[in-house]
Amino acid sequence: MRVSCTVNGSPTVADDVWEGESLLYVLRERLGLPGAKNACEQGECGSCTVYLDDVVVCACLVAAGQAQGRSVRTVEGIPTAGALDAVQQAFLDAGAVQCGFCTPGLIVATDDLLRRIPAPSDLQIREALAGNLCRCTGYEKILDAVRLATARKTGGAPEGGAG
Ligand code: FES
Ligand code: FES
Repeated sequence: MRVSCTVNGSPTVADDVWEGESLLYVLRERLGLPGAKNACEQGECGSCTVYLDDVVVCACLVAAGQAQGRSVRTVEGIPTAGALDAVQQAFLDAGAVQCGFCTPGLIVATDDLLRRIPAPSDLQIREALAGNLCRCTGYEKILDAVRLATARKTGGAPEGGAG
């Protein structure tokens, strides 16, 4: 089947899509967008997090056909004007990226959090990122990164460790 949708702001068509294919497979294997990662394919790890009509979803759990006529935004669509955005830069600056496998999903989830709650508490950060697993960092650097991004976006001083 053919799936037509908007991906990162551009009208996009994927042909020969099998009915059982996931949105994640189509993004990575048919559209050349490898940012969303394939780790568990069971909705458990959050590494495949993308926006579907401005709601974050696990792309591995979305049938490709469900994207028909809708808007998808991946981590590749987060930067503006070719530059890293505040969340991406904060993850780098706070040392929250090690192997990087979880990072794209965390970037999308954090972007969504800060759009909904511009100055989240630590509890709100933990709740928002609870579905995104990281095997490397122990999560503290990730919390630092979100605090740092929050501070830079709001003009305040970061709470916690990152400066
Ligand atoms: S690959 Fe989708 S949640 Fe793990
Ligand atoms: S940095 Fe390796 S899984 Fe998170």
